[in-house]
Amino acid sequence: MCFAGFAGAQELPKPLSDDAFLQFDPAQARLGQMLFYDPILSGNRNISCSTCHSGAFGSGDGVALSFGEGGIGLGPARIQGTAKVRQSRNAPPLWNLSAIEVRALFHDGRVEVVNGTYQTPAGGRLPDGLTSLLAVQALFPLIARTEMAGDPEENDIALAAFDNAPKAWRLIAARVAEIEGYQSMFDAAYGTDDVDIARIANALAAYIDADFRAQNTPFDRFLSGDEAALSEQQKRGVALFYGDAGCSGCHSGPLFSDQQYYNIGLPTFGPGMTRRFDPVARDVGRMAVSGDRADAYKFRTPFLRNVANTAPYGHNGAYKTLEGIIRHHGDPERGLRSYTRQSVDLPEIDSAVDDFAFVSDPRIQSQIIDGLSIQPKLISSEDLKALVDFLKSLSPSQPKTPFGRPSSVPSGLNMD
Ligand code: HEC
Ligand code: HEC
Repeated sequence: MCFAGFAGAQELPKPLSDDAFLQFDPAQARLGQMLFYDPILSGNRNISCSTCHSGAFGSGDGVALSFGEGGIGLGPARIQGTAKVRQSRNAPPLWNLSAIEVRALFHDGRVEVVNGTYQTPAGGRLPDGLTSLLAVQALFPLIARTEMAGDPEENDIALAAFDNAPKAWRLIAARVAEIEGYQSMFDAAYGTDDVDIARIANALAAYIDADFRAQNTPFDRFLSGDEAALSEQQKRGVALFYGDAGCSGCHSGPLFSDQQYYNIGLPTFGPGMTRRFDPVARDVGRMAVSGDRADAYKFRTPFLRNVANTAPYGHNGAYKTLEGIIRHHGDPERGLRSYTRQSVDLPEIDSAVDDFAFVSDPRIQSQIIDGLSIQPKLISSEDLKALVDFLKSLSPSQPKTPFGRPSSVPSGLNMD
């Protein structure tokens, strides 16, 4: 289908149908549901995947940079507790990540499929038996110190995670294997109660596939020929998105991402992803993965389905609203230079480190601006409204969550 009637029209995507997704076993999804909500997978038994990827916050956590391991509470109400730092990046939503076309995960794509093989920070130490990129991804929060593992002096998993990821994964699997409630679920899912980390990861992926789909949206109905599925204003938004505003140049296809990397000039703040030789804490995005200076400050084009429910926006949650992040695209330099500490709600932190210093550092600002991959293109306030309204049509009115949040988990630990 082609949206006629405006200059530079681009092909509209196809509706997102079930055959766009990998197939998973429902018994594995049922097991994955329990594992996703169970703090047993964390070093100090105090945080689960669902703490940062919560159904209550569109499968993120509703905070720009939240507290991981050691924090207390959920979403914007989560406080520091014993956490020492904030997360480096915004917890992204999980919608449609089991689609076949997904080939790059994390904001910098450091878990990806290249020529049919998985490339990850674990190099050749990935366990055998992983059946999807999403399963590969699930291995990494488990061994991240500030996400789920904790500090090396606190527990054996974190100690192993420090330099021996396979050992940390074995220890996690051994913990799960000891819990009676899991044995029968492993049996049902895999025909064996032999628990290993690949089976844990595959089950987590199966659960994410089941509960985090954003299909059958008003926009999909429109694509299938139902003109009445969108308002006039939303149709204007479609015309802009696929036309003059140039959004679909990057946010393309049924998932709204080309899965390439761009520097759109978001301000850099937070603890960053400091590399060995970095003089200061900062986040150079894709460059840290590719080693190519041309990739500095580039991040993966985010998927936009259900985006109206996944604030805040950008790799570090710099913008609270869709209006804010879209306006920034129109004039990145202005967005960056006018950004201040007050522009973002960050949870209170008790720390000597000022992780906001770089937002207004002129040298870093110039580096970001010199490397911009997006042309400024002022967006009128009317067009902005139409674009926001269109993006709202990418949310299903009733997302299917066949599993949802369980009332308790097999370990008996408290859920968030
Ligand atoms: C402490 C918060 C936290 C916890 C706990 C956590 N995550 Fe995340 N998750 C994040 C953040 C932050 C990112 C982005 C990190 C980056 O890009 O460097 C992320 C990224 C992801 C992604 C990639 C999304 C994308 O669009 O590329 C997936 C999938 C994911 N997490 C799944 C999980 C699973 C499964 C678990 C449990 C095993 C989990 N997460 C636990 C915070 C968390
Ligand atoms: C040059 C490629 C490119 C173009 C063109 C582009 N975007 Fe983006 N967009 C990105 C990238 C990359 C990010 C994430 C940047 C980051 O996190 O540092 C992003 C982020 C977003 C987000 C935030 C999503 C989230 O979950 O955080 C929205 C919404 C968005 N873009 C909408 C638009 C709209 C509307 C247009 C057209 C006016 C547009 N984009 C044009 C590349 C692009």
